[in-house]
Amino acid sequence: MYTPNATIKPSPIILGIESSCDETAAAIICGRKLLSSEIISSATEQAKYGGVVPEIASRAHTEAVDEVVRRALESANVSANRLDAIAVTYGAGLLGALLVGLSFAKGLAYSLNIPLIGVNHIRGHLAAAYLVDEELKPPFVTLLASGGHTAVLYTKNYLEFKVLGGTCDDAAGEAFDKVARVLGLEYPGGANVERLARSGSNTVKLPPALVKNSTRMQFSYSGLKTAVINAVHNAEQRGEAISYADVACSFQHAAIDPLVKKTVECALSLGATTVTAGGGVIANGYLREALSSACKRAGLRCVLPPKQFCTDNAAMIASEGLTQYLAGNFSPLDINACAQIPLV
Ligand SMILES: Nc1ncnc2c1ncn2[C@@H]1O[C@H](COP(=O)(O)OP(=O)(O)OP(=O)(O)O)[C@@H](O)[C@H]1O
Ligand SMILES: [Mg+2]
Repeated sequence: MYTPNATIKPSPIILGIESSCDETAAAIICGRKLLSSEIISSATEQAKYGGVVPEIASRAHTEAVDEVVRRALESANVSANRLDAIAVTYGAGLLGALLVGLSFAKGLAYSLNIPLIGVNHIRGHLAAAYLVDEELKPPFVTLLASGGHTAVLYTKNYLEFKVLGGTCDDAAGEAFDKVARVLGLEYPGGANVERLARSGSNTVKLPPALVKNSTRMQFSYSGLKTAVINAVHNAEQRGEAISYADVACSFQHAAIDPLVKKTVECALSLGATTVTAGGGVIANGYLREALSSACKRAGLRCVLPPKQFCTDNAAMIASEGLTQYLAGNFSPLDINACAQIPLV
């Protein structure tokens, strides 16, 4: 019988586990203090196929999960019997991949008789900011930009947030990955587009990733992606030289500038004094600089997680696990993995 010890401690030691895509990750926190964060990635293997192959990801997680948890415990200098709870991503993501981390977490929580906390991966991305600033408290406005999501959110309190606006088609990260492919860059594309953009200039005319004349704030990446494909193909068909670096740089401006502008506008209109960000695209150096500068100009505090906590990691899962732990929100052992979870 699973009757976990659920005495709530103010600064619990939590093991976070993440396996929703191609990163098998484990991390340990004590309160908001990060003790360790380990990742074993199958991205190099996936790059051979130009993207994530779910079956390969599941197998890689199976081989890595035990080792990555062992490493996290060892580098935090924490033995398993000192853990107070286990937080694990239960969705959204690849079902087979999620099941590996979730099953491992269930087994360990059962054997240690400690609470299991199923974490929504996206809430994890939002919670990464709590690791940077131990004093950070809601309310704040967040720019979420990842491989599958793009939105501006208002976090009212630790447990509730509201979507202020989002993409009506592709996500920003997805657009970076597709543009990378057009420019002949390897998967995962975002960081490679950023690298190429550094030697280019913003001279190719591309549409900004924003729906004009909409009553709601809506981003759109499909038109921008098509414009990049057309710019490259048209030049090649005419035999004209086109600088891929200029395309990358211009794409980066068109993809990111609207996100920064709208995030700051939302914060100002809601009277929020703090802006945070989360998701893989927030690792982009141009975005980080643009968002920090825009917040500074507007008199807003900007809290950006370090780059390694923007892309998938387990520290953010442990961080969201802490919020749920303090609220006493524990999961039953029959919690299932979920391929899709709506943002709210
Ligand atoms: N430096 C960068 N510049 C732009 N994009 C980047 C950079 N680094 C990573 N990305 C993009 O971030 C995405 C990966 O982020 P993340 O791991 O959060 O996505 P995901 O977990 O697949 O999706 P989601 O979190 O929405 O479920 C990829 O699309 C990748 O191209
Ligand atoms: Mg993610």
